[in-house]
Amino acid sequence: MLKIGVLVSGRGSNLQAIIDSMEKGSLRGKAEISVVISNVPGVQALERAKKHKIKAVVVNSKDFDDSSSYEKQVIKTLEENSVGLVCLAGYMKLLSPELVKHFKGHILNIHPALLPAFPGLHVQKKALEYGVKFSGCTVHFVDEGCDTGPIIIQAAVPVLDDDTEETLSARILEQEHRIYPEAIRLFAEGKLKIEGRRVKVLGT
Ligand code: GRF
Repeated sequence: MLKIGVLVSGRGSNLQAIIDSMEKGSLRGKAEISVVISNVPGVQALERAKKHKIKAVVVNSKDFDDSSSYEKQVIKTLEENSVGLVCLAGYMKLLSPELVKHFKGHILNIHPALLPAFPGLHVQKKALEYGVKFSGCTVHFVDEGCDTGPIIIQAAVPVLDDDTEETLSARILEQEHRIYPEAIRLFAEGKLKIEGRRVKVLGT
């Protein structure tokens, strides 16, 4: 069974979608979360993990002198829990090249826009301001850049005339909760093959 480490910083609704999929959906019997790591204490994601009896650890980035020693602790925690796939789920820190190298090809992220449009932060607001008619979400492998890694799955949603940042975010989030577990399932089944920038899904 694939062991997953989930890195979080806040609400944890994507973490919840992954947990639900493991308990009663398509990830059942295929993957399990061996540790949830939050860089921020007291966040809702930690409560969600505890509620489902999943090991939850705080590695507070503020307790470390520099980001290198912080990340060493994160890598150590992931290694100690035999993690084979790292999932970023609302993790608000950029990974260093060392961490990316350590788990190369074994780190996924969910981003609330149709990459390569609108990388970075506050992207639903940026999509509205730009005036796009469609936005959505992207699950991708993580490389050294910011939201630049090879794309696994995307889902599009319409942008409506009366949308606010909140309503658009909610419509996108619904799709995030669908495609993140789906991408993890494909990874767990060994169906994802990276060829340059392209990710091919074997057997389709
Ligand atoms: C999601 O919109 C995700 O795409 C982005 O941060 C948000 C995290 O939400 N990376 P949650 O913590 O999973 O509820």
